[in-house]
Amino acid sequence: MPRMTVNGRPLQFDLDPDTPLLWALRDAANLTGTKYGCGKGDCSACMVLVDGEALRSCLITIEEAEGRFITTIEGLSRDRGHPVQQALVAEQAIQCGFCTPGIAIAAASLIAKNADPSEDEIKAAVPNLCQCGVYPRLVKAIQRAGRVARGLETISAAPAPGISTGDAAKSVPALRDLQPDEE
Ligand code: FES
Ligand code: FES
Repeated sequence: MPRMTVNGRPLQFDLDPDTPLLWALRDAANLTGTKYGCGKGDCSACMVLVDGEALRSCLITIEEAEGRFITTIEGLSRDRGHPVQQALVAEQAIQCGFCTPGIAIAAASLIAKNADPSEDEIKAAVPNLCQCGVYPRLVKAIQRAGRVARGLETISAAPAPGISTGDAAKSVPALRDLQPDEE
């Protein structure tokens, strides 16, 4: 029964040791922010930090994760205040959002090591597939996150967790007309 630390908490999975970490996180620990895209290492939607390194959780078994420190998107910050999260929102570098947790994890790992990455360094460190084409905005966002991490810039925090979807949508012009209280 492999044990590890997930988002700062000790966890023991009563599962087959060959279970992919992705399944354990999503189905046993209910940490569904980590996404299942391809299940075979191609898309990076499932990236989590393992001892600070962004790895594809579909390719790691829980036995291989034994004793390691795992951070999922839920644990990246308490208040969505990680520079990468702030910058992704500020630069509108999110469209479908499905691939975004993996992108945020890959970018956070990069920024922790290199807070002033070039476009080529970002492309190498963030291999995540995103079919909607936010790559140019991603580069801008990750470089902006680096400036925030270096203390050169601040970004207003994204809405705090717990905000109602209705309240959050009120600040999005395209969604305002869809609010039930305004219909
Ligand atoms: S689900 Fe892991 S790389 Fe696609
Ligand atoms: S934001 Fe998900 S495919 Fe681009």
